[in-house]
Amino acid sequence: MDSFVIKGGVPLRGEVTISGAKNAVLPIMAAALLTEEPCVIRRAPQLSDVDFMGEILTSLGAEVKRQGSTLTVRAARVKGLGDYDLIRKMRGSICILGPLLGRRGEAVVSLPGGCVIGARPIDLHLKGLEALGAKIRIDGGYIRAGAKKLKGADLFLGGRCGPTVLGTANVMMAAARAEGVTVIESAACEPEVVDLANFLNSMGANISGAGSPTVRISGVKRLHGAEHEVIPDRIEAATFAVAAAASHGEVTIRGARADHMHAVLDKLREAGVTVERSGPALRITRRGRLRPVDITTLPYAGFPTDMQAQMMVLMTLTPGISIITERIFESRFMHVSELARLGADIAIEGPSAIVKGGRPLSGAPVMASDLRASAALIIAGLAARGATQVNRVYHIDRGYEKIDDKLRGLGARIARVEGA
Ligand code: EPZ
Repeated sequence: MDSFVIKGGVPLRGEVTISGAKNAVLPIMAAALLTEEPCVIRRAPQLSDVDFMGEILTSLGAEVKRQGSTLTVRAARVKGLGDYDLIRKMRGSICILGPLLGRRGEAVVSLPGGCVIGARPIDLHLKGLEALGAKIRIDGGYIRAGAKKLKGADLFLGGRCGPTVLGTANVMMAAARAEGVTVIESAACEPEVVDLANFLNSMGANISGAGSPTVRISGVKRLHGAEHEVIPDRIEAATFAVAAAASHGEVTIRGARADHMHAVLDKLREAGVTVERSGPALRITRRGRLRPVDITTLPYAGFPTDMQAQMMVLMTLTPGISIITERIFESRFMHVSELARLGADIAIEGPSAIVKGGRPLSGAPVMASDLRASAALIIAGLAARGATQVNRVYHIDRGYEKIDDKLRGLGARIARVEGA
């Protein structure tokens, strides 16, 4: 298993270009199952999660080709069985359920395995698909779903932590080929949901209201092939913004959509980081001392849970007390004990982490536990004195395209050590 060795203390300087969004491309790849015609997906990031989704679609009978950052998916024929061994590798693959039901009227998909950040049930996905008339039973670790004809319906998709992103995606994709009109109330408003709706509409679907809590889908009999450029990854862009601030750097971020990042940019400004828009680019500059800020993760357009760990690192470097409350995933503080190994002072009180910031971090070997925690440990390594070794970086390769190359391009002293 690879690891990264980071020699800290170097301010990041220069320009970085953001890749396509992982959390947009995964459901868009699955949506290609809704037509027998080829779908061309541009700006598809080179990530292990995208490769996994390609393997899953291939196991369902689709043809998946990649040329650079362009993927072509053609599902001329589709089998209904989503294999456990593939699906357990990536929870996001649950979003094949809706398209398989929409295309074939039946789907047998493995229940996703466990996840370190939380229980992550899929009850809302199933509730939404049942509202469209699907008969669903769980048997032998598989979801067995069938519907002679999916029918449009009005449904409420809000859960104990608010809307569900992939649940909204699954229902939207099934409803796109259902008979009649579906109205989803308490739909997720994430930019990735909007990007999926735009892609489905370019395939001939009839979806309005994506990006708002009320999404309306008028089902159509058939969808055709389409071409689509995936939105930039707002979480990757925000991760580089925090890395720039944590390293006392000055970084220009190219290709990001600042209008997808308001909550994070607002918190960075509140902490005293200089955030400037220069044309399509964002410039992040850290001049001097930061101020502690409190953060609560919320559904979009609130502060993203996928930036909680990275922002916690910045607060460990900031003199004073800040309180970080995780409202989306119940056990998303796996990074706290690893940050303590670097000298951070963080106490957990229920859903909140109380960060006593300002103590300099010193390098040490640490273990990545999940995708965003590993990004946080890399940022901590960039700010720490001495060398930090981040182990199990396969987690980061799932969601950040060539992060070590991009960081070296900004002057970071980071090296990938293979098979460490
Ligand atoms: C998506 O996961 C993202 N993954 C996650 O990013 C992200 O953290 C999450 O949305 C929230 O923004 C992808 O898009 C592939 P949810 P998803 O359903 O859709 C509860 C990353 O780091 N819930 O919106 O699986 C759930 O347990 C990943 O890139 C139910 O209770 O998340 C959670 O507490 C991690 N029942 C909350 O809702 C359900 O049926 C939000 O989950 C579904 C969800």
